[in-house]
Amino acid sequence: MTAATDVSTQPRLVLPTIGCGTWAWGNRLLWGYDPSMDPELQAVFNRCVSGGVTLFDTGDSYGTGRLNGRSESLLGQFAADYTGPNQEQICLATKLAAYPWRLTRGAMRRACGASAERLQRPVDLAQLHWSTGNYAPWQEGALLDGLADLYEQGQVKGIGLSNFGPKRLRWVHQRLAQRGVPIATLQVQYSLLSTYPVTELDVTAVCAELGIRLIAYSPLCLGLLTGKYGLDKPLPGGLRGWLFRRMLPGIQPVLDTLGAIAQSRDKTLAQVSLNWCICKGTIPIPGAKSVTQAEDNLGALGWQLDSGEVEELDQAAGRCDRTMVQNIFQTR
Ligand SMILES: NC(=O)c1ccc[n+]([C@@H]2O[C@H](COP(=O)([O-])OP(=O)(O)OC[C@H]3O[C@@H](n4cnc5c(N)ncnc54)[C@H](OP(=O)(O)O)[C@@H]3O)[C@@H](O)[C@H]2O)c1
Repeated sequence: MTAATDVSTQPRLVLPTIGCGTWAWGNRLLWGYDPSMDPELQAVFNRCVSGGVTLFDTGDSYGTGRLNGRSESLLGQFAADYTGPNQEQICLATKLAAYPWRLTRGAMRRACGASAERLQRPVDLAQLHWSTGNYAPWQEGALLDGLADLYEQGQVKGIGLSNFGPKRLRWVHQRLAQRGVPIATLQVQYSLLSTYPVTELDVTAVCAELGIRLIAYSPLCLGLLTGKYGLDKPLPGGLRGWLFRRMLPGIQPVLDTLGAIAQSRDKTLAQVSLNWCICKGTIPIPGAKSVTQAEDNLGALGWQLDSGEVEELDQAAGRCDRTMVQNIFQTR
């Protein structure tokens, strides 16, 4: 292991109001990715950065089959090619998988090195993709120590977690605090149709107490909260279609309320959904597959729902009798 650098001189992690998720970039199975989409994805990247959406979330497990690592490689290529506004603010966040064969702190450091190679630059934010707390709690200590090594050695600007609940988060915080390593971010599945991490687990309060920024993943509930999918409208194929067919009969209160607010404010449902996440103090990272979608999502910036509208949406969410299934790795 190399010696720790002076972390007080490390470049700071700067996070924008909204980020962009790139799970779909390289994923054929769930998201229908095809390499012919790459020029459009590059245009998405460019539009996001120029519009101030400078945080990109990826993962070293992203990309199906032979396309594994594709999301990181595309991001690396796009970031290297980009010149324009906000270039210096680009923040590439990857998630390192807690694979069962990653058992040592060295394995985490090597994984981050491999991500940095695909990204063609150092990783800005390295996150542990999921907690092993629900099935192999003994594995997690070494993975966290490896993450902390990356920060201490100045290889990343910050470290983060994903799918951790408050109890496990406090345990990690205590472990890393002993080394003076801060947790910059926590990612949870959070949207109007997935309020569990906040309403049931209360992660917001713990994050505020521990100085951790909360990132909302799948903030559009995989596209359902854009209003473009319905029982009388075409559904995507595969697992998403199956899931949407199951959810749609029970989520009308949210779709109706989103629609009414969107109309009164001359916004789209996606913009209102993302703005709700921002009002809740989170950084939403919607996935985007086209410039039109990226442009639409950018329209969630520069205005704010009032407290009455947030309350209406909260109540509508409470009236839905179907919600998004929680990530199996989410701990308490
Ligand atoms: N930490 C974790 O375990 C974890 C888990 C899941 C996701 N994530 C991260 O969170 C990111 C976002 O979540 P997500 O991609 O799962 O779902 P999402 O952001 O809720 O939905 C994204 C999808 O919705 C559609 N869409 C996006 N913007 C739209 C717009 N303005 N109008 C119409 N349709 C629009 C697109 O799909 P279609 O065009 O096909 O409808 C897009 O791929 C991921 O990319 C990933 O980086 C993290």
